[in-house]
Formats: sequence, C-alpha cells, structure tokens
Amino acid sequence: MTATSPALLDRRLLMFTGKGGVGKTTVVAATAVEAARRGRRPLIVELGHRASMEGLFANRSIAYEPSQVTDGVWAMNLDFESALADYFEQHIPVKRVARTIMRNKTLQKFFQAAPSVAEVATLNKLSALEAEREGGKPRWDPILVDLDATGHALMLLNVPEVMTGLIGDGPMRRLIDGFSSLLADPRRTVLSLVTLPRELPAQETFELYQKLREHHKVALGALFINQVPERPLTPGQAGLLDRVQSRAKRANIGPLVDEVTLARRAMRYQANARAQINRLRRAITMPIVELPLITSRELDPEAIASLGRSAIEQLEDRSAEDANTSHARRMRR
Ligand SMILES: Nc1ncnc2c1ncn2[C@@H]1O[C@H](COP(=O)(O)OP(=O)(O)OP(=O)(O)O)[C@@H](O)[C@H]1O
Ligand SMILES: [Mg+2]
Repeated sequence: MTATSPALLDRRLLMFTGKGGVGKTTVVAATAVEAARRGRRPLIVELGHRASMEGLFANRSIAYEPSQVTDGVWAMNLDFESALADYFEQHIPVKRVARTIMRNKTLQKFFQAAPSVAEVATLNKLSALEAEREGGKPRWDPILVDLDATGHALMLLNVPEVMTGLIGDGPMRRLIDGFSSLLADPRRTVLSLVTLPRELPAQETFELYQKLREHHKVALGALFINQVPERPLTPGQAGLLDRVQSRAKRANIGPLVDEVTLARRAMRYQANARAQINRLRRAITMPIVELPLITSRELDPEAIASLGRSAIEQLEDRSAEDANTSHARRMRR
C-alpha cells in the first residue's frame, strides 16, 4: 500500500478469496467485527448456501435480507435465486412477467447453466448494496464479501470482459459498465487474499497473485497469512534440547524423550511456516497481515475480535511505516 491509498476499511467493497479452508470466513468475520468496533456499519455478504458464517455468530440465521448477527455487524447470504429474482424485478418492467419467469423451473435451470448469469445477478446485487444510502450516507460501510473459492472470485472479475463482446448498447451494457467501474475503482473495491503458511497454499497464492496482476483491473487489498504458529521454544530453550534428550535417554525416561521429539517437530513446523512467510513476503508486494494459529481455545467471539483488531492494526502500522519512508525519501531529495 502506498501512503496515499486509502486504508482497507475505507474501501466500500472488500472482497476476500483464497483456497478452501484457509480461513476466509474467519478473516471476513474478524474484519467486520473490528469495523463495527470502530463505529462502522459493516455488512458481511456470504455467497451461496454455505451457512458457515452462522457458526461464527452464535448460529444466528443469515438470510438474503441483511440482519444484525452481533453488535453492529450485519450479514446476508447472497443466494443465486434471490439475486436473480431481484435482477428480473429491476430490469423487467412488468413485475408479473418477472415473477412468472422466476417460477418457471425450465427457465430457472437455463439461467443456472447459462454462462455468467449467476455472476451478473451477484454483481448486480453487490452494486445495489454499494449504492444504498441512508440519511445521505452509505448504508453499509464497508461491505465484506466472502467469495467461497478462488475460481469464483476470478469468474466474478471476468464478467465485464466476458460480457463485453456479447452485448450491444442498452440497459445491459449500462449495467455491465456499472460493475466494471465499481470493480476497477481502487478507491471503492479491493480484493484481499487469505492463505496459510504452508507450501501448497503459498504456491497457489503466488500463482493467483500473478494472474490477478496480469489480467485483472481489480486493486489488491491485503494478504492475510492465517494460522501462523508461534515459536514453541525460545532460542535458549531450544539450545538445551540436545542435552535434555541425551540425559533422558541415559536415564531411560521415555516420556521425556517423546516430549523432546515433539518439541523438535513443533520447531520444524514453525521454521517451515516462517520460510513460507518469507517467501510470500519476497514475492508479493501487497501489505501482509500475519494472524496467529489459535490452539489454546475455540475460535470464540473474543478470539475472532482479537484477530480482527490485530489484522487492522498491523495494516495501520504498515501504512505509518510507508508514510515515514516516503517522508524520509522526500527529505533526502
Ligand atoms: N487463526 C486460526 N486459528 C485457529 N483456527 C482457525 C484460525 N482461522 C481459522 N481457523 C479454523 O479453520 C477452519 C477453516 O476456517 P474458515 O471456515 O474460516 O475457512 P474458509 O477458507 O472460509 O473455508 P471454506 O473454503 O470451506 O469456506 C475453521 O474450523 C476455523 O475455525
Ligand atoms: Mg468459508
């Protein structure tokens, strides 16, 4: 992030993607909780019928209509059928016709299979949410979209390009142009990535990052490296391991020998994670947030809140650093 680009929470539409199971839903929830703590009015948008967000908010049910899931945090599930119904009601002037189309099973199947229809309906709803105003201010601030997989994110981002060749002028063109400018506006929309400090997810993240930089106009937000293990032993403690091990062997204390083996394994795991983080930091120029692996307890609301707080504070520290560096650079000139 340069000193002049707006802070992550100051963007209107925050999209998050990453490989399955890396912690996207957790990161989205944590960021939203932190936004609410700072007096914003975040709306979490979950795509599809996954319902995994509900588990993070005391199983409050999340439907198409936004509802408050915890203090100041709103959430909705953007399912395809409802988004499509909205789309028809908006664009087909006769409501009755729109409803008839929606009720027709064959047409429904056709729309589900037709290329980009789901994405257009989804983007249509996201743009509408972004444009909602209350008392002259945006109703949702910010909107956080939990894109369920990398492929899904790319499909959404591809819509403007795919559609460009297919449509002429008219309402559809205006609609697509509307999404394109929302998605391509770095002051409004950013895509953040979530990954784990392990070889495969790190490699996939690197490849996705390259693809996004080469082919897409969307601005990149932050890279969240989730589940970073803590160092299991201090260097001093680690230095004692050899001695502990040989004494335990000599005295034939089996459980202690096992403990030492475990400690070594934990150290290797942590060292590997560190190596992957360093590799990501070298290859990717996005602001990076490291979130700890929480092993001591359930990911309860308090843990989620502290992950969110830490994430946003890390980003603030970083932009303060950037501002200092560019200030220093200016002074040197
Ligand atoms: N920092 C963390 N420490 C410990 N456990 C975590 C952490 N982040 C996420 N988890 C756990 O990892 C699992 C996957 O997290 P989450 O559901 O957020 O991932 P996801 O990327 O949204 O998955 P999916 O691709 O299935 O939607 C969950 O059980 C979650 O509780
Ligand atoms: Mg998820």
